[in-house]
Amino acid sequence: MSKIKFDNRVVVITGAGSGLGKCYALEFAKRGAKVVVNDPGGALDGSGQNAAAADLVVKEIIDAGGIAVANHDSVASRQGGENIVKTALDQFGTVDVLVNNAGIIRDKSILKITEDDWDAVIAVHLKGAFCVTQPAFAVMKEKGYGRIVNTSSGAGLYGNFGQCNYGSAKMALVGLMNSIFVEGAKYNISCNCIAPIAASRMTENLMPQEVLEKLKPEFIAPLVLYLCSEQNKDNKMIFNCAGGWFSRTEILCSSGMVLGDGKREILPEEIMEHWDTISGLENTKPLSSLMESFTYLSGIM
Ligand code: NAI
Repeated sequence: MSKIKFDNRVVVITGAGSGLGKCYALEFAKRGAKVVVNDPGGALDGSGQNAAAADLVVKEIIDAGGIAVANHDSVASRQGGENIVKTALDQFGTVDVLVNNAGIIRDKSILKITEDDWDAVIAVHLKGAFCVTQPAFAVMKEKGYGRIVNTSSGAGLYGNFGQCNYGSAKMALVGLMNSIFVEGAKYNISCNCIAPIAASRMTENLMPQEVLEKLKPEFIAPLVLYLCSEQNKDNKMIFNCAGGWFSRTEILCSSGMVLGDGKREILPEEIMEHWDTISGLENTKPLSSLMESFTYLSGIM
């Protein structure tokens, strides 16, 4: 089994001042990476700032003999994203790996959520991932190598009470991944998603202590490191991970059926009549891009 190493690889991790991001930073550094520890600090809802969050992680890495630098920009603006990537370029000369991990929560049921709750959560998770990925992608395209991991969530993939803002943003990170795949594969840039469940300040009040003890962030890091390694050639995949459980989840397209001939009217009654075939999951497969869905229309095109 080949050893996974990150010597001379530059790894940018957003939101790496605590929880999962901190764990990834320590593990990447142990395996030789030069790590940009991004985190403005602050509360779970995104309020406030605290530079110590990133600084302490950098100190821990350096004290252990590793290489790291702190960045305190928010991911949620274009300028912030550019500054984060600039930190990597100024300090280490390149970017090889980006882990889009920064996150906040403002959980409320749909009728209670405010515009501000919606905007703030979308800004950090979704816009933030875009704002850092865009300048990182430019560097990766130039060098013909890049590994990106987006942090999705079961709350988006499957749904969860009180998280319509968070779940929407997390599902959108799958959409971002899909487009990065289509645009990046030819430059050897991969993008995959993880949907973790782990003990952190985000989940500490949601589950009993004995459950949290089994959901260590350290059990998520191996998957992130593998996905970001040179050895991993897979792309555009989504993985559940929690407490040592690793599984793939997918958006699948069924062959369904073609009604009509591309000319005649199609009636709602025909949809009803063929509902089992249309809504069934027979002959499903993941599609490589939107364009592949046109193959199902071959009978009428
Ligand atoms: P956490 O709260 O410990 O870590 C999130 C980090 O993101 C914090 O250090 C925070 O300061 C940082 N952050 C917040 N706003 C930022 C901004 N604008 N720019 C840069 N950094 C910012 O929580 P945890 O659990 O470690 O979360 C990490 C990621 O994993 C998040 O994206 C979260 O949504 C996701 N996730 C976590 C799950 C879990 O069970 N812990 C479940 C599913 C997803």
